[in-house]
Amino acid sequence: MDIEKLKSNGVPRHIGIIMDGNGRWAKNRGLPRTAGHKEGLSSAKRIVAAAASLGIEYVTLYTFSTENWKRAQEEVGYLMGLIKGHLRAEFEFYKKNGIRIDHIGDIEGLPEDVRNEILKAKDDTKDFTGTTCVLAINYGSRDEIVRGIRKIAKNADISSEDIDEAFVSRALDIPGLPDVDLMIRTGGEKRLSNFMLWQCAYAEFIFTDTLWPEYGEEEFFSHIGQFQGRNRRFGGVPGQEARS
Ligand code: IPE
Ligand code: IPE
Ligand code: MG
Repeated sequence: MDIEKLKSNGVPRHIGIIMDGNGRWAKNRGLPRTAGHKEGLSSAKRIVAAAASLGIEYVTLYTFSTENWKRAQEEVGYLMGLIKGHLRAEFEFYKKNGIRIDHIGDIEGLPEDVRNEILKAKDDTKDFTGTTCVLAINYGSRDEIVRGIRKIAKNADISSEDIDEAFVSRALDIPGLPDVDLMIRTGGEKRLSNFMLWQCAYAEFIFTDTLWPEYGEEEFFSHIGQFQGRNRRFGGVPGQEARS
């Protein structure tokens, strides 16, 4: 894959990734599901570094959903430990690749040590100027929208006329986070599982059967190439002027 060519064809500004299939990857090998999550972390680093090499502005990784608390305590505990340990250990990786960490999701609903680690990583990397890697942890899109509406409702100075799409966007977890251009889901399922419903209004979707631990740079670059071949019309007809 010619990276320079990919870059010159215009890369997506914001890529969302539903990193699915860790458990099945492990099961296929007779390993515990947790081994799949460990391997999945290596994939995440690989893909974030690849995104940084392409100059992509935002990559949002679906790391732990508001629904994932339904899983066994052992698995949830392992995932929380993995997130915390990774954030603590990987400052050099972020620095080398110029990666800024940010977060979406209900941070108040996370264990205090995990919450503190996220806030620390965000602060430590705030001056890096490459790709922003947004970690969606304890994230559910409906939950994000509900919390946003609550913020709006609590502000007595706001009248209903103030509320438009830009206003609602600003009430979400990262005000000014651009819309998702490309949404990739690994692991074969074809659903959003409550991920960035608002931000994906006009996203292009790519679903691959590849399990997340096996997802590599080559497939990622080929998905970006596929995205570049899509015809994004945003409801218009090419060549037609808007009616005034
Ligand atoms: C995705 O992999 C990672 C998380 C949800 C944290 P899964 O754990 O959902 O893997 P499968 O879908 O069971 O294979
Ligand atoms: C979505 O995967 C959540 C993450 C990747 C973190 P799930 O495996 O939880 O989604 P469902 O259960 O297949 O919808
Ligand atoms: Mg899954």
